[in-house]
Amino acid sequence: MPEKVTVLGAGTMGHGIAQLYAQAGYDVQMYDIKDEFLEKAIERISNNLDMMIQEQTITEEDKNVALQHISTSTDLKEAVSGTRFVTEAVSENLKIKFELFSQLEEIVDEDVIIASNTSTFSIKELSEGVKKNDRLIITHFFNPAHLVPLVEVVKGPETSQEIIDRTVDVLKAIGKKPVVLKKDIPGLIANRLQAALVREAFYLLDNDVAEAEDIDLAITAGPGFRWAFIGPLETSDFGGLDIWKSVVENLAPVLSKDEKIPPFVEEKVQSGNLGTKTGNGLFTYADHEEIQRRIRERDEYFIRLAKIKEQ
Ligand SMILES: NC(=O)c1ccc[n+]([C@@H]2O[C@H](COP(=O)([O-])OP(=O)(O)OC[C@H]3O[C@@H](n4cnc5c(N)ncnc54)[C@H](O)[C@@H]3O)[C@@H](O)[C@H]2O)c1
Repeated sequence: MPEKVTVLGAGTMGHGIAQLYAQAGYDVQMYDIKDEFLEKAIERISNNLDMMIQEQTITEEDKNVALQHISTSTDLKEAVSGTRFVTEAVSENLKIKFELFSQLEEIVDEDVIIASNTSTFSIKELSEGVKKNDRLIITHFFNPAHLVPLVEVVKGPETSQEIIDRTVDVLKAIGKKPVVLKKDIPGLIANRLQAALVREAFYLLDNDVAEAEDIDLAITAGPGFRWAFIGPLETSDFGGLDIWKSVVENLAPVLSKDEKIPPFVEEKVQSGNLGTKTGNGLFTYADHEEIQRRIRERDEYFIRLAKIKEQ
């Protein structure tokens, strides 16, 4: 019998995480507060799988089998019955997460792992909302969860080694690349590195150094081209630490150290120009169709890159 797992919250992240389990042969229960959210999640999973068929990474039969592994419920007790691993991917609101944890603790077995996908709360903050915190862990997936391999794993002072090992095994079984942090730090690893880069990209745009397209191209055709295979630390070794000593020493004084978001980004946020979710952002999109096409293209590239990385 396949192991049973549960995903709480079937939004942007939850549906993708449920899909990963289903594709790996787990029986996955998806839970949300309304049937319509669960129906939408199944539709999104079906569309994701269609794209994978189109890109020839799975077959029609694989899709049908995966969908058969997913069941949905708006009843928490039913959703966690017999489960071994719970992934919490509900809204980023501590009150909502705590209410759910306390209901969960009443009904799941002692050794069931509770893994939160939170992107901003520390394991210490989360552990204040549970009675038994040795089985609480953070598993931080990246959007789109069904395509980006990284999952950052954060343990608390109380998290047992057995829980960490079981979590890493489960993540590997669903095809992910888990990275276990040695300590809890805001932003974890990937978002700290991304934020450092995005701050500088905003600075370059704000100072009219180049057009937005060209700043992005300088990454996708340059360092980003290497980063899918060679990280920044190995890049330093390949380039020579003497060279990188000079690069960092010479550039560090002139890099952006802004602690506030530049006014031009703030203005866009205030006027509702948030990017693809509202229509326009740093780039201009003709209409909804163009946005959908760009998102599709992005996902197709990710599937192709994953294929290359797996070779
Ligand atoms: N979106 C991202 O890029 C991203 C990346 C990494 C981590 N995260 C984290 O993942 C979690 C989910 O984020 P998201 O972007 O998927 O949010 P979302 O708003 O798309 O989805 C959240 C879902 O949780 C459901 N929900 C709310 N309260 C609930 C409850 N009490 N019980 C069950 N379901 C409930 C909502 O109905 C919704 O379907 C958050 O903790 C977020 O910080 C998000």
